[in-house]
Amino acid sequence: MASREQQHTKKVPLFPFLSLLCFASIFLLLSLSRKTSSPSPSLSHSHYRTFQTRTPDSTPCDYSDGSWIHIPDPKPARYDATCKEIFKGWNCISNNKSNGFDLTTWRWMPRTCDLPPFDPLAFLHKFRDTNIGFVGDSLNRNMFVSLFCTLKRVSSEVKKWRPAGADRGFTFLRYNLTIAYHRTNLLARYGRWSANANGGALESLGYKEGFRVDIDVPEGTWAEAPAFHDILIFNTGHWWWAPSKFHPVKLPMLFFEKGEPIIPPIPPHVGLDMVLKHMVLFVEKRLQPGAIKFFRTQSPRHFEGGDWDQGGSCQRLQPLLPEQVEEIFSLKNNGTNVEARLVNEHLYKALKGSGFHILDITRLSEFRADAHPSTSGGKKHDDCMHWCLPGITDTWNDLLIEHLNNIKFRD
Ligand SMILES: *[C@@H]1O[C@H](CO)[C@@H](O)[C@H](O)[C@H]1NC(C)=O
Ligand SMILES: *[C@@H]1O[C@H](CO)[C@@H](O)[C@H](O)[C@H]1NC(C)=O
Ligand SMILES: *[C@@H]1O[C@H](CO)[C@@H](O)[C@H](O)[C@H]1NC(C)=O
Repeated sequence: MASREQQHTKKVPLFPFLSLLCFASIFLLLSLSRKTSSPSPSLSHSHYRTFQTRTPDSTPCDYSDGSWIHIPDPKPARYDATCKEIFKGWNCISNNKSNGFDLTTWRWMPRTCDLPPFDPLAFLHKFRDTNIGFVGDSLNRNMFVSLFCTLKRVSSEVKKWRPAGADRGFTFLRYNLTIAYHRTNLLARYGRWSANANGGALESLGYKEGFRVDIDVPEGTWAEAPAFHDILIFNTGHWWWAPSKFHPVKLPMLFFEKGEPIIPPIPPHVGLDMVLKHMVLFVEKRLQPGAIKFFRTQSPRHFEGGDWDQGGSCQRLQPLLPEQVEEIFSLKNNGTNVEARLVNEHLYKALKGSGFHILDITRLSEFRADAHPSTSGGKKHDDCMHWCLPGITDTWNDLLIEHLNNIKFRD
């Protein structure tokens, strides 16, 4: 493993120009060798694989098919517990989680290609004068923080501000690269609703309290984001099955379209489909030409022995085995954490035929029952939903940047 690791990290800084160069020269050599029937050039295994995944017309690598490999002596972590942007509850090293340091010693290895840790300096160079927006719930914030801490480590001059209605944002001044987090739980606008004394369609059905969700109106926190950012990463999912807020009986979601209640009322999973449809259209209409948009798949939770409010916990110190992953997440078993794959079914349906790239982090994250804050955040309940930082959202960013390089520099 150690030698594999060295191979990976050695070629990072030159990425992806070196691989393009490699490809070009290999191609040249191959076509020469065909004409002259001289021996074909010997390709090292790793070169061959890079060559394979960079070729525009080859089957793209399935980054979700792989395994976590323990690297006993990893390179120094890309950032540490002193990064101020890490939300207190996610700082597993400061919070003394027993495996807090160990988390960065695992590397995701896709089966048929490489996913090296991205090079933050090369990234800042290549994406200078770029605005990058994360739009979604606290799991997208977790990913945003990971990217911020990684970049801050190599370029410390930052301006903190809130571009285009963002919750938080920073510009890396030397590179004029801005990253921002736009907070939104459902993507659509929502707010408390109470029955009107004068009556109405919902009132006549007996509804008294709930949440009004406007399926065709984006929440104000991110409505300006598509016109501002060059690269966007969206997510939604966790709040659609959150009875502690949207209680199905006491405080149901009440969906509105064009300002009028949808009658008969629809359940949340139908509302999710409608919201996704409208939000995808909204983004595609507002985005700047050349902008790149991703939808991130659902981040899995790992509550065992009950849900978060039923004493569920996540005390594992090692990634799960493939059999355990199936046991916990398969739709058939309908367990506590089944919503990860359920949400994805809705996402894939809504995104089909759209211009969104899918950032599929679900499968690789399903293994990592060991990487949540668990009890270390000092909260009343175990946190088996968010991720420790440093931690696996670092790998999500590796995947994001791998995709970005492939999209932007493939020709
Ligand atoms: C973590 O451990 C250190 C050293 O033992 C201690 O000073 C600190 O208070 C602990 N932090 C928490 C959040 O328990
Ligand atoms: C910084 O980048 C933005 C695009 O993201 C661009 O509009 C602006 O002109 C750049 N500023 C400078 C000083 O180059
Ligand atoms: C899955 O389990 C939940 C309760 O844990 C139940 O309400 C739901 O009906 C089940 N779904 C299916 C498809 O069996």
